[in-house]
Amino acid sequence: MSDRGEIIVRAKQVTKSYDDGRITVLHGVSLEVRAGEVVGLWGASGSGKSTLLHLLGGLDLPDAGTMEVCGLDPTREVDRIELRRHQLGYIFQMHNLIPDLTVEENVRVPALAIGTPRAETAKRVRELADKVDIRHRLHHRIQDLSGGERQRTAICRALMNGPRLLLADEPTGSLDEKTGNTVFALLKEMAEQNNIAILLATHERRFAEQCSRVLRVRDGQLSEI
Ligand SMILES: Nc1ncnc2c1ncn2[C@@H]1O[C@H](COP(=O)(O)OP(=O)(O)O)[C@@H](O)[C@H]1O
Ligand SMILES: [Mg+2]
Repeated sequence: MSDRGEIIVRAKQVTKSYDDGRITVLHGVSLEVRAGEVVGLWGASGSGKSTLLHLLGGLDLPDAGTMEVCGLDPTREVDRIELRRHQLGYIFQMHNLIPDLTVEENVRVPALAIGTPRAETAKRVRELADKVDIRHRLHHRIQDLSGGERQRTAICRALMNGPRLLLADEPTGSLDEKTGNTVFALLKEMAEQNNIAILLATHERRFAEQCSRVLRVRDGQLSEI
């Protein structure tokens, strides 16, 4: 668990372009995120929100700049492995769960990857499922669930190994308004109760307004609003 106010993400002068430099998406972006904060990344579609999350999560490499995530460097392979296993949870707009598996099986995947004992995993799955109110669905397959139930399952999976940081890429983007509100409220509660840092991309003002801080992504730059 992180200390209150501990810096979890620190990025300096991060630049990323695509197409051999023809499209510069991020142009010398710097930011800090502390434990317990829900920081909104707010910007129009195509402004570079996903790109920034991918870089911080080690899913893509920057052209320039430095990043420190949970004290690790996501551009280094050994650090990425540690990040993915223990420090970082990722939530996508389209949940990215395995449709043929049950809720329980999906949530267990990260624990399998680090060899958590079975009994401990089972207990943790139940605790998480209770928190997001999906316990009654544990043995149902993902393909039979609603969008909100899928996203609640994705939250459990992201939290399975007790991460210090959640990167959430428009986690409410595919949900109706009411379900979106529930999922957003859950994420906020996780940050507060477990002192997790959350960096959350959204283009919806109503969610941005509820974040601890909002960084606006525009023209390759970040500005605090
Ligand atoms: N792999 C890629 N190759 C080329 N262009 C890309 C790639 N990924 C993203 N882009 C471009 O980078 C810009 C930012 O994309 P993205 O980070 O997905 O924005 P957002 O998440 O804010 O909607 C867009 O113009 C997009 O077309
Ligand atoms: Mg995006």
